[in-house]
Amino acid sequence: MRMYDIIQKKRDGGVLSAEEIEFFVNGYTASEIPDYQASALMMAIFLKGMNDEETAVLTQSMAYSGDTVDLSRFGTLSVDKHSTGGVGDKTTLIVAPIAASVGCKVAKMSGRGLGHTGGTVDKLESVPGYRTSLSSDDFLSQVEKVGVAVIGQTGNLAPADKKMYALRDVTATVGSIPLITSSIMSKKLAAGSHSIVLDVKVGSGAFMKTVEDARTLAEKMVEIGKRCGRNMTALLTDMNTPLGHNVGNSLEIIEAVNVLKGEKTGDLREVCLALASNMISLSLGIPIDEALKKAENAVESGAALKKMTEWISEQGGDASYITDTSRFEKPKFSRSVKATQSGYIASMDAEKIGISAVELGAGRASKTDEIDHAAGIVIAKKTGEYVKKGDELCVLFTNNCACLDEAEHKYLDSLAFSDEKPSERPLIYGVVG
Ligand code: URA
Repeated sequence: MRMYDIIQKKRDGGVLSAEEIEFFVNGYTASEIPDYQASALMMAIFLKGMNDEETAVLTQSMAYSGDTVDLSRFGTLSVDKHSTGGVGDKTTLIVAPIAASVGCKVAKMSGRGLGHTGGTVDKLESVPGYRTSLSSDDFLSQVEKVGVAVIGQTGNLAPADKKMYALRDVTATVGSIPLITSSIMSKKLAAGSHSIVLDVKVGSGAFMKTVEDARTLAEKMVEIGKRCGRNMTALLTDMNTPLGHNVGNSLEIIEAVNVLKGEKTGDLREVCLALASNMISLSLGIPIDEALKKAENAVESGAALKKMTEWISEQGGDASYITDTSRFEKPKFSRSVKATQSGYIASMDAEKIGISAVELGAGRASKTDEIDHAAGIVIAKKTGEYVKKGDELCVLFTNNCACLDEAEHKYLDSLAFSDEKPSERPLIYGVVG
């Protein structure tokens, strides 16, 4: 079999056989197929798509391209959640400790930033000492003891996805339903949780721009998960504006802590409570309204914040950064971005805001770029709010002052104003599964 023929077949709109897909996944994982051929195939799949059978075979061969985690010791309590990627999406940092504090077992493998979206692993690495890589024994005993462990795609879990994810990030091949389905579900299957809650983002800052595409993606992922014996739910949540107010790695940890302290209300808290209650409901087998009460109580009682501190510290992180978030490094440069006109903010293009944050150093423009953990954006005004010319719209933070002009330009370009208050969008468009 030749990689050239597989690329050509997909380029011309053909359907790949299971053998061809497995040949690619195994060869690329073993570094026998070079990046340039893998990139060409990713682009062909991006442009020509894959049918359900191809997507299922791709997902399963990626899931079993390396080790898998055996969580059977936790019975039905093991639960995972995964977001399809957004801007300002720090939900894992909030829902994982909420669920763990009520008795769920959260054994989670997270990703790095991809394109304009942030990644939980990059965020967690802004806490000094936090280990995103644990041996399988340490991972399992931490879940047993603390109820939560969040690691990166280290070790040999779904190594095919690890390579493909990094490649797609820099070859404009992220927003493809079969590639996202196989990427997310291969990691979820390898990571072994009995129940999985998917947060499928919809809107300008998401890979899925329409509710229809997001629903298709959700249905495909739920179907593959169920086919493999997992308990699945997917929520379709809004990503037309960044979630919460902070975008950037340590800035997002700070905001997550504020939600767990009960200091912050709004969209972020609402989406997190919906996700956490679905995790709790699946894992503990209780009705959703009872699960929601447990989640709210975990935040109000401080149990979830205590769990976060315990989790970070158990994983090597300096938990004093959680108890006192003012300890995070302050970047050298900041700029207050002012409104150039008066009016209601009619819309924010969350993708452009994500790109502006990448520009500031919060994400990577190429595979080997270093992240500036302190860089990012604190948004002062969001969609639906009225601003007067000269009011502060946001503050940009970076350690590289050369990027401030471009980041400001991108931020301003992301906003549209109107004289009339825009109608409110729902935060949650639906539930699948
Ligand atoms: N998140 C993933 O894990 N993979 C994707 O392809 C997109 C978002």
